[in-house]
Amino acid sequence: MEWITFNDGNRIPAVGFGVFMIPNNGPTYEAVLAALKAGYRHIDSAAAYFNEEDVGRAVRDSGIPREEIFVTSKLWLQDHGYEQAKKGIARSLRKLNLGYIDLYLVHQPYGDVAGAWKAMEEAKAEGKIRSIGVSNMTPALWNRFVPQFETKPAVNQVEFNPLFQQKEIRALMNETGTKLEAWYPLGHGDASLLSNPVITQLAEKYGKNAGQIILRFEVQDGVITLPKSTNPERIRTNLDIFDFALTDEEMEKMHALDTGKGTHNPDAPGVEEMLRGAFVIED
Ligand code: A2P
Repeated sequence: MEWITFNDGNRIPAVGFGVFMIPNNGPTYEAVLAALKAGYRHIDSAAAYFNEEDVGRAVRDSGIPREEIFVTSKLWLQDHGYEQAKKGIARSLRKLNLGYIDLYLVHQPYGDVAGAWKAMEEAKAEGKIRSIGVSNMTPALWNRFVPQFETKPAVNQVEFNPLFQQKEIRALMNETGTKLEAWYPLGHGDASLLSNPVITQLAEKYGKNAGQIILRFEVQDGVITLPKSTNPERIRTNLDIFDFALTDEEMEKMHALDTGKGTHNPDAPGVEEMLRGAFVIED
């Protein structure tokens, strides 16, 4: 496994296991234990995934030392603002029950983000959170919020795959040394991506599947990637991308696949309202 170093000096495994939509009270516990057994050392959760308890329990029960496992969670919108964010952070810490959280993100960048960020900076200073970052920031949202931050985000977790390479936001993130984390890194099963001839030809050349070529491209491009799979074989093989490298020319071909378009536009009218109504996190 390769590790990527943040702008605050901490390190993260380049491939992580996401637990979005996996239910609490059993399924997430089993999935995280299986992922750890398969070799994953990076678990990506969120308050709004409603499964922080299971993530924490699996990490504690795994027999693997805490410091060898990297755990991310995220603050939900209802907890934006300084005082409320302190409560949200305390709730995540209590539900995960792992002593500290490796990386904590502003899940959706709307409302009093600056207040929430201040609470996250304090939690980082107190050692409750090791690194802090943001998610779903477009250039417009980045320019609205990040210039107010004292601590620059370690990451911005956004939709990313070879068809949607986020060139504009990456240029801004480069100025602060902020790493990109990819959600939907395989295009969420988009057949036009997985069957793209550039990718299938590379798969044949390297004896890998299309998903592995995509994940290799992402990691080689400096991206932290969070592939989702429910298939035990693919969960395992999606980590098996460190025994080969794409050439510069092949990386160029992959870069040329960018269409600039994804499935989610955080700037679109109504998105903030839709998200605000989507979840209520309870203590
Ligand atoms: P499955 O769960 O059957 O493996 P994303 O991470 O972009 O959301 O994509 C997830 C989708 O990609 C799921 O439908 C998953 O199906 C599929 N998938 C995961 N790994 C691979 C792979 N190595 N090759 C092809 N498809 C994959």
